[in-house]
Amino acid sequence: MDRMKSSPLIVALDHPDEETARACVDALGEAAERYKVGSVLFTRSGPPLVAELVGRGHGVFLDLKFHDTPATVGGAVAAAADLGVEMLTVHAAGGTGMIAAARAAAGSSPGAPRILAVTVLTSLDESTWRAVSGPGARPIAEAVSELARMAIEAGADGLVCSAHEVARLRAELGPAPLLVVPGIRPAWSESDHRGQSRTAEPRAALSAGASCLVIGRAITADPDPRAALERIAADVAAARQ
Ligand code: C5P
Repeated sequence: MDRMKSSPLIVALDHPDEETARACVDALGEAAERYKVGSVLFTRSGPPLVAELVGRGHGVFLDLKFHDTPATVGGAVAAAADLGVEMLTVHAAGGTGMIAAARAAAGSSPGAPRILAVTVLTSLDESTWRAVSGPGARPIAEAVSELARMAIEAGADGLVCSAHEVARLRAELGPAPLLVVPGIRPAWSESDHRGQSRTAEPRAALSAGASCLVIGRAITADPDPRAALERIAADVAAARQ
């Protein structure tokens, strides 16, 4: 995956419709290599928008967090592979059979999508986690580690994890898995980050072991999105030298 070597930044297209998303893509131009398309934009604009981004030479991270029977998830992953996406998400809680089916459906060609597992949603607190996990639920941190190990052993190429989990998961899992980290905010960013109580700076997340960073509002809500992206990219590149 050559793109992985060129830039670790993924811009989250969390726009409500394709017109505003396309305006953002146009504004960022070749400064952006990869985009994340999530369930809001995909439900609105679907495969044609993903195909358009791929056709414009961008890597696409399709963040639909599949969680269904192995056969259904396998079919969805095969469809995503046909669209040419670079990475996609499944829920680790779908189990080893579902993750193995996703891995098999992605194929093994050089351009095959990477399967990323989501462990515990960062929006859950301990009490909500206990309510959904039932009696005897482990603390979230333990559950994240166990689900992560299970997902990698079942064939996932990596994980989506928070900046606060990434160092521990890197230490536990070694260098191979892709660790894709959202919740990133440069110190200078003035964009509104409601919904994110614990953010990390790009360089800190990378030095903790992140492979890629997902950045939305720090770029897309900036008055000059391209300048914001280029500033983050320059900072990250300097840190990697
Ligand atoms: O906050 P920001 O706009 O950078 O969010 C970018 C993406 O990261 C969003 O698509 C959001 O769903 C995801 N995110 C996440 N976990 C967090 C924060 C953000 O998955 N804790």
